[in-house]
Amino acid sequence: MGRLKILNILKTKSPEETKKQAFDFSLTLKPADMILLSGEIGAGKTTFLNGVLKGLGSDKRVISSSFSLMSVYKAERLNLIHFDFYRINGKFDFEELIEYVNENNIVAIEWPYDIEKYFMFKPYSVEIKMIKNDEREIKIKKYE
Ligand SMILES: Nc1ncnc2c1ncn2[C@@H]1O[C@H](COP(=O)(O)OP(=O)(O)O)[C@@H](O)[C@H]1O
Ligand SMILES: [Mg+2]
Repeated sequence: MGRLKILNILKTKSPEETKKQAFDFSLTLKPADMILLSGEIGAGKTTFLNGVLKGLGSDKRVISSSFSLMSVYKAERLNLIHFDFYRINGKFDFEELIEYVNENNIVAIEWPYDIEKYFMFKPYSVEIKMIKNDEREIKIKKYE
């Protein structure tokens, strides 16, 4: 079992603020880091990843796609590989996923399934909770 270390607990009051916090967080990311995102629909997981992508050096926008499980966003410092397992309950080939964990990439997973299998990568965990209206609580942790 991985040990979970709390790195930061933040409150934001707008999507812009969430993106700014995610931008700052992204500057600490290293090659082959993994981010597991949790929180209900509309919490702000994809919004957070937009801030991460900007921090990695891309002006592209991360989208919530209803048809693709995986998107590659090339960026200046490290590419962002975005998985969203919401619709498939983890029926994605794990072997395929781990090929993306390499020195060129950050791998981010919304709705990770069976998170124990990711512990070997010592992933970050980003938990976003809706407080009210545009207020969110963001907990950033790391499995060690
Ligand atoms: N503080 C906030 N942080 C992030 N998103 C927010 C915030 N306040 C309002 N929102 C809105 O909530 C929605 C979050 O959507 P999204 O990031 O796609 O969520 P998820 O990926 O968790 O389903 C967006 O419409 C965003 O504009
Ligand atoms: Mg999303």
